[in-house]
Amino acid sequence: RIMPEETTSRPHIVTCTAPVNIAVVKYWGKRDEDLILPISSSLSVTLHQDQLKTTTTVAISTSFKVDRMWLNGKEEDITHPRLQSCLREIRRLARKRRNDGEPDSTESTGLSHKVHICSVNNFPTAAGLASSAAGFACLVYSLAQAFGVEGDLSGIARQGSGSACRSMYGGFVQWIMGNRDDGKDSIAQQVEPESHWPELRILVLVASAKRKPIGSTSGMQTSVQTSVLLKHRAESVVPHRMDKMIKAVQKRDFAAFAEITMKDSNQFHATCLDTYPPIFYLNSVSQQIIHLVHRYNGHYRESRVAYSFDAGPNAVIFTLQQHVPEFVRVVQHFFPPDTNGEDFIKGLPVKGAAISEELKEAIGLEPTPNGINYIISTKAGPGPCIIEDSSQHLLSPDGFPKKVTGSNPS
Ligand code: DP6
Repeated sequence: RIMPEETTSRPHIVTCTAPVNIAVVKYWGKRDEDLILPISSSLSVTLHQDQLKTTTTVAISTSFKVDRMWLNGKEEDITHPRLQSCLREIRRLARKRRNDGEPDSTESTGLSHKVHICSVNNFPTAAGLASSAAGFACLVYSLAQAFGVEGDLSGIARQGSGSACRSMYGGFVQWIMGNRDDGKDSIAQQVEPESHWPELRILVLVASAKRKPIGSTSGMQTSVQTSVLLKHRAESVVPHRMDKMIKAVQKRDFAAFAEITMKDSNQFHATCLDTYPPIFYLNSVSQQIIHLVHRYNGHYRESRVAYSFDAGPNAVIFTLQQHVPEFVRVVQHFFPPDTNGEDFIKGLPVKGAAISEELKEAIGLEPTPNGINYIISTKAGPGPCIIEDSSQHLLSPDGFPKKVTGSNPS
């Protein structure tokens, strides 16, 4: 809330953080491009912010002339239509709240205020990890705090980037597609909190290839226009798969979770190949990881590990805590890093482990040196958070960036 004295002098400043999420039932295809309404529901796991997060500071003041934004230290164009949608929707909610009986003046809802936005990621942009979900979730959450708006904000984050609506909650989150034309029922909901499955671990295998693949927005547009497989997937596969996935999560049934996750990732990439002209997101390292996972699981006659790939070559691995040391060792054996060391594994510490000759033989791949840059070891985590410590603000008390900062690669 904005105190009256603040409206005339210093900017009102808030800082929040928001997480990355990885879909295990993928979103691909829109039925409305402007409102960002999907052709099917999806489900994701929110990753822990200790490893991957966006931090955003929003300052609002009557003394600012125009809305402005800085991303990873560089001023960006604020007229971006999706950014404008989020700003407009938050201001609309603030106005609604005022008209719904808050007797305070326009001043208290900040409607006459311009905003300054400053945002950074704690992971390198070069890693090719989707940052738009965390970025828009953080933007919407921080704007809502600054303008004193409450309630479900996933419908607003969705209008920034579809997958961003799922980053508004922690743990296991579904985005219900909805069927209204105005999109009011296309929102995210938490299925289970992050505490529900404490043994679940997530390893992000950051691929070395840096070629920028075709973006999700235009990729899925071409898929909707040309892929009959995508139509079949949305109508006849995803509804059933969502039910099965929700049950697998609720029961903490890893084998079922793993099978649906891998099949869904594969079907998503199959719809990309069915798109005309076709879209390829997987490279030869991705393919080797797919083989490696199936042979690893085959060796143990049990699904211990699952892979998932988004619109790029990075593999996201889901497994249980007890299998992490051995599996990481296997990855390191088949994708030996130059730097032979600590730098290969970032995030949650991973214990050393030995691997048997039988296991190496069962996998039987030719090692690919430096095929994987590094691994980020993480787990499921909470949704957006408010940072109370004002020394963490990215904007100084006058509402301008404190210092020029890039992404922090540590
Ligand atoms: C493959 O949310 O980035 O990661 O709504 O156009 O911004 P827009 O697309 P975006 O698409 C994400 C696609 C995906 C699958 C997923 O996260 O569900």
